[in-house]
Amino acid sequence: MTKSPRPSTSSASGKPLDPEAKPDDRVDNALRPEKLNDLIGQDQVKENLSILIAAARKRGEALDHVLFYGPPGLGKTTLAHVLANEMEVNVKVTAGPVIERAGDLAAILTNLRAGDVLFIDEVHRLGRAVEEVLYPAMEDFALDIVIGKGPSARSIRLKLPRFTIVGATTRLALVTAPLRARFGAVYRLDYYDLPAMQSIVSRAARMLKVEAETDGITEMARRARGTPRVALRLLRRVRDFAQVRANGVITKTVAKEALDLLQVDPLGLDDVDRRVLKTIIEKYNGGPVGLNTIAASISEEQDTIMDVVEPYLLQLGFLDRTPQGRVATKSAYEHLGYTYTGEGQQRLL
Ligand SMILES: Nc1ncnc2c1ncn2[C@@H]1O[C@H](COP(=O)(O)OP(=O)(O)OP(=O)(O)O)[C@@H](O)[C@H]1O
Ligand SMILES: [Mg+2]
Repeated sequence: MTKSPRPSTSSASGKPLDPEAKPDDRVDNALRPEKLNDLIGQDQVKENLSILIAAARKRGEALDHVLFYGPPGLGKTTLAHVLANEMEVNVKVTAGPVIERAGDLAAILTNLRAGDVLFIDEVHRLGRAVEEVLYPAMEDFALDIVIGKGPSARSIRLKLPRFTIVGATTRLALVTAPLRARFGAVYRLDYYDLPAMQSIVSRAARMLKVEAETDGITEMARRARGTPRVALRLLRRVRDFAQVRANGVITKTVAKEALDLLQVDPLGLDDVDRRVLKTIIEKYNGGPVGLNTIAASISEEQDTIMDVVEPYLLQLGFLDRTPQGRVATKSAYEHLGYTYTGEGQQRLL
């Protein structure tokens, strides 16, 4: 997404937003499901949303404000566009760090039409002053504007049309309580299970006109860490490999060779995941060790480790979070080929 101070408006289909997008982004946008029924997996979220949408449509009202949270690449942005498509309204796209001043938000809000969706990505990064403008806007559809200064200052209230804020965040804990409370519906997106990942890869292969055998699809689905965005990326790279090193068809062997070459292991761990675990095991005897220490040891951003690496390792049961710090579990030792002989002792097999 472009980080311009103004929100970009897209068609109701939510496509092509940005002519300068990288080729891979453009492929992702083209593959983005448009309707709730095109979305694979996340059944519970989908069912809840379908009720929310049907009810709002029945009453002829704007959709209630919705907040999506969960690890990157699971479909938060996609869902925001799907909501707008289902409601047949426009969607404007912006992001927390882009809205610098309260006036920027006021400008965006006064340009919304009744029913419109304003998608605010990284909603946990909104500034305080901006958030304070957002509260009455979300709750009462009103903007409070202060005119003048000092004793003669007065505040006037501007009515806004009824619109819908769709917020997305990878860090629910950083969304302030008053903001969170103003979302009528809050949904957590979880990693996709294998059958859902298989359908996602196979749908994308069909749309990209890539020939792939079922076993090849399963291999990619299995190593995509339950994340559609990762699945699409792996598919593109495996397609390259199939075209250059094989006859263009993605078989199980082709997928395996390509993914091994990309250093994506059978559980979907990549180089960064492995470095995090190895550091904890080798340098810190399995932990506990603080996140900042790990980040410094492997020269990665703390945010990347927290948003991308940890949620997946926690889900696999490879990592524990304790008050003293992160701890590598027995399964992590075994997966990486270390013997686990209890806390604080390990040696390479
Ligand atoms: N349920 C799904 N079915 C099929 N494809 C999906 C699904 N969810 C996401 N995708 C695909 O995965 C890609 C990533 O999804 P999306 O951009 O919505 O993730 P996100 O949660 O907004 O990530 P981030 O937190 O990084 O912004 C999209 O391009 C979309 O094509
Ligand atoms: Mg997104």
